[in-house]
Amino acid sequence: MRDDVLHERRHNLTSPRLRGEVGSRAPGRDPGEGAPLQPEHIAAAPHPNPLPASGARERASFVESLSMSSDKFISIEAIAKRYPGADGGEIAVFENLWLSMARGEFGCVIGHSGCGKTTVLNILAGLDQPSEGTVIVDGQAIEGTSLDRAVIFQSHALLPWRTVLGNVAYAVTSKWRDWDRTKVKAHAQTFIDLVGLTGAEHKRPSELSGGMKQRVGIARALSITPKIMLMDEPFSALDALTRGTLQDEVRRICLETGQTAFMITHDVDEAIYLADKIFLMTNGPGAVLAEIVENPLPRDRGRIDLHRHPYYYAVRNHIVDFLVSRSKTFATDVPDHDPRSVPIVRIGKSELVIASVSESKQASWPGLSRPSTSL
Ligand SMILES: Nc1ncnc2c1ncn2[C@@H]1O[C@H](COP(=O)(O)OP(=O)(O)O)[C@@H](O)[C@H]1O
Ligand SMILES: [Mg+2]
Repeated sequence: MRDDVLHERRHNLTSPRLRGEVGSRAPGRDPGEGAPLQPEHIAAAPHPNPLPASGARERASFVESLSMSSDKFISIEAIAKRYPGADGGEIAVFENLWLSMARGEFGCVIGHSGCGKTTVLNILAGLDQPSEGTVIVDGQAIEGTSLDRAVIFQSHALLPWRTVLGNVAYAVTSKWRDWDRTKVKAHAQTFIDLVGLTGAEHKRPSELSGGMKQRVGIARALSITPKIMLMDEPFSALDALTRGTLQDEVRRICLETGQTAFMITHDVDEAIYLADKIFLMTNGPGAVLAEIVENPLPRDRGRIDLHRHPYYYAVRNHIVDFLVSRSKTFATDVPDHDPRSVPIVRIGKSELVIASVSESKQASWPGLSRPSTSL
């Protein structure tokens, strides 16, 4: 990383409230890659934490969060998905999609219906295959489903004739076939306790509320200690109260266990609460990953007081603005978008920092001069 990385060109945003800064990171193969920032660069950067920037603890956490992005635990490389079109040709849901995540990161994908979010998740799960490209998880190319990757669906997909314990134990047995009943039961119970279902072990799905069923789904997914937890709008069918409680549980568990998670959501607040990185996808067909928003809120954020954080509205407005106006017109607004160097958006106090992965992009990155960036 060069010394001048965080002192690059500065553009005025059209918004009266935000100013942008374009920096560059070390050239990398695809989004999220690049050498971690050194402490001297952190000091020069707008601090992402509302607490005093001089505090050693906050600075260390920033270094840590950026260092994580150099590790490519999940690497989606140039995937495309095409279906036969009505005229005999092909319709591409997306083409040349690149995305990477570090071990222990929580990534959320946001985009309008039909842009291909579920397709990406299914490809990651091994339930679907890309028309082109590769997905690598922990150094291995994905080929079919694996107990290394657990999926939590919006519908609970529980076995109705089995109890809570039976459903979780079934998953445990699929992974560890040689375990005896006592060991399987003890292991399943640990995860039933973890999701707060102690006491409901012997109930069947028909006796459970929607929230409880989803807890079983989460316990079942976690019980096989997957490398990645994949979630496709897991809470969207739940009432607000249950949704909030389960968001808390998932966040607590992921932080406690260092679980890597990839989640699709339509709920901007859910993404801001849960995610380390928020992936913004444009509308399909021909959807692209337009931006990666790094969550500027501290790791010890709470769901209830999320909106009190000084950066909350800036990050929320940025995402909503993308969904409302920029996701439709992105392809024409940004004709030279490079899917391998997707802009990383960092929102700091009164500033919006865009760090482009590729140095060559810094002279032409257009996001900050677009009128629609206004908040
Ligand atoms: N079997 C299929 N044949 C043709 N088109 C499909 C098929 N499955 C999905 N699609 C299309 O792929 C696009 C992306 O679907 P999906 O990944 O489910 O989107 P999202 O999850 O973002 O709402 C949609 O436009 C959908 O119509
Ligand atoms: Mg979907």
